[in-house]
Amino acid sequence: MGQEKFIFEFSGKKIEKGAFQWSAPSNIALVKYWGKKEHQIPANPSLSFTLTNCKTITKLDFQLKEASGISFDLFFDGQPKEEFKPKIQKFLERIVNYCPYIKDYHFIIHTENTFPHSSGIASSASGMAALAVNLMQLEKALNPNLTEEFFNQKASFLARLGSGSACRSISGEVVVWGTHPEISGSSDYFGVPFDGQLHTVFKNYQDVILLVDKGEKKVSSTVGHDLMHNHPFAQQRFEQAPENLSKLKKALESGDLETFIAIVESEALTLHAMMMTSMPYFILMKPNTLQIIECIWSFRSQFKVPLCFTLDAGANVHLLFPKKDCEKVLEFVENTLAPLCQNGHYIVDEMGFGAKKML
Ligand code: PMV
Repeated sequence: MGQEKFIFEFSGKKIEKGAFQWSAPSNIALVKYWGKKEHQIPANPSLSFTLTNCKTITKLDFQLKEASGISFDLFFDGQPKEEFKPKIQKFLERIVNYCPYIKDYHFIIHTENTFPHSSGIASSASGMAALAVNLMQLEKALNPNLTEEFFNQKASFLARLGSGSACRSISGEVVVWGTHPEISGSSDYFGVPFDGQLHTVFKNYQDVILLVDKGEKKVSSTVGHDLMHNHPFAQQRFEQAPENLSKLKKALESGDLETFIAIVESEALTLHAMMMTSMPYFILMKPNTLQIIECIWSFRSQFKVPLCFTLDAGANVHLLFPKKDCEKVLEFVENTLAPLCQNGHYIVDEMGFGAKKML
């Protein structure tokens, strides 16, 4: 099944103007995507938990115009944001062949994040996902026959072209992106909801994000992905990720927390090991990232709470644990881990369902 099905065919319907508003959450990868081929095709499949509280809210106003071409104004937190425009321009240029109606409209895009701008939490996943669902809402207005499945697949397909991991922020609690023999319908072109039966222990799984370093990353993920070309361990890594995904799938279905923890922590450290063994090499963890990991390991062995960590491409630490252990973990966070965070800041989040229509 190719990408051709995502090319919009003119339905004959024109809409003068209107507005939509959607929110889309961030997601946290458990099996990491690191390394890609041309056109945002991942070098290996990945699996993520969708979040709830960390999200982008985007309103899209559209008005039919005379001249054909890409045209938009961008506001972030109510203020014009010129420096974000090139990224959006590039995104719209990449998707215009699939959504030619974009050229018929002038857009006013209002966007805001629920998490602080300089928190070290990447807003590209939720941001691109929120814009993609809005555009799909316009496409649905032009072609009301779209099925929900197609809507979600194409929204994910478009979001991927904006930022790879954004394709996992559209729909589903657990999302897999990248072809994998054990995940039915999985594709390199878009994310699909995990098709297994999620064990009850993972329902509303908690994610406390410890903000260790809120600064701009020294090395962007674009550069990091690129360094996987000619990386001495890339091939082994691209073979390991699908194997880990198979093991994690079983653990998610059986509720085997021991395996879950082992895979998730190993994936996080492997991601950073890939960074440290790139040429040029780089380190995104900070001293407090390591100290937090030490604290998590001793807390886990002392109190027998199935608390584990994962890391994204930065210094922040995501604490993952079952909802029933909330009280004990939050006390540990407050007393021991918050002092290791920048200004004591952390965000409490949990697994969610994906993008939501607001208007
Ligand atoms: O979507 P990108 O290009 O920002 O890459 C994201 C990479 C990781 O967050 C490190 C891993 C992942 O799978 O989300």
